[in-house]
Amino acid sequence: MERFRRTRLNSHLRSLVRETHVSVNDFIYPLFVRPGEGIKTEVASMPGVFQMSLDEILKECELLQTLGIYSILLFGIPAVKDSIGSDALCDHGIIATAVRAIKRSFPQMFVVTDLCFCEYTDHGHCGILDHVHETVDNDLTLGISAQQALVHARAGVDMIAPSGMMDGIIGTLRDALDGGGYSNLPIMAYSTKFASGYYGPFRDVAESVPSFGDRSTYQMDPANRREAIRESLADEAQGADILMVKPALAYLDIIRDIREASSLPLAVYNVSGEYAMLKFAGNAGLIDYNRVMMETMIGFKRAGADIIISYHAKEVAALLH
Ligand code: PBG
Ligand code: ZN
Repeated sequence: MERFRRTRLNSHLRSLVRETHVSVNDFIYPLFVRPGEGIKTEVASMPGVFQMSLDEILKECELLQTLGIYSILLFGIPAVKDSIGSDALCDHGIIATAVRAIKRSFPQMFVVTDLCFCEYTDHGHCGILDHVHETVDNDLTLGISAQQALVHARAGVDMIAPSGMMDGIIGTLRDALDGGGYSNLPIMAYSTKFASGYYGPFRDVAESVPSFGDRSTYQMDPANRREAIRESLADEAQGADILMVKPALAYLDIIRDIREASSLPLAVYNVSGEYAMLKFAGNAGLIDYNRVMMETMIGFKRAGADIIISYHAKEVAALLH
């Protein structure tokens, strides 16, 4: 006869035997910097998320530190976009300027930069176009990505996170950084990035909707599990320091697969559409927002994530306090 009784677990014992924990140290908070001053524009599809000018970003960093959040993922929205994303290649472009200012005012803040071109190009694709095939030219994009990485490195970034999913990007960036004297600068690879409808709200905030076509020539098919593992192992072999699965919620099996296939630290990106779903359901009174949010975060950790990149990070930090 089964003698187990769950009722023996009082709340103290339940917390002693809890297998998975969420801590403020698990989180990286995304921030969107744009030109100007005194600008803080809420994104309609993501209540609580803003495009901010640099002065507002600095205020935000102060607030994040009081919440115990010391890691940010920075995206730049430049004043001018062109066919090759020139602003991203300039030492005085939006992102380089922001990194310098943040590191000057908040040396303890761990600043990660998203390294891609879709926010910087007028066509909204993640690299230089191949006009014959009407998609991104992988190898031309590798060349400018190396330049972009050195711009971020010179600005004083703590880690770069290439998100364009070009083939060979990790090896290219590792070589460029090593060659430039930045062999201690880590790379967090967006190693498994699916072509996903969940990025919809992000493209509003980053103003990066592709003007034609989609990203399926460089992002992965959501149906492919073996390919996800293969991409991750390829990035590991090229020198990635941290792997990532993105999006998170519909891909918990992939998180577990990669956790088991690689011993590298693993990040998940709890993306804009996932945030929006909870937010709007919560605002409509359909779910207990805080409870569902924490349950979701536990799910990511239980699936095998070490790091959670999330727009919920501030709310989680406040709840954990
Ligand atoms: C840029 C990039 C995207 C996201 C992060 N970096 C969008 C995309 O690939 O279209 C999505 C993040 C989110 O939805 O929160 N390559
Ligand atoms: Zn991109």
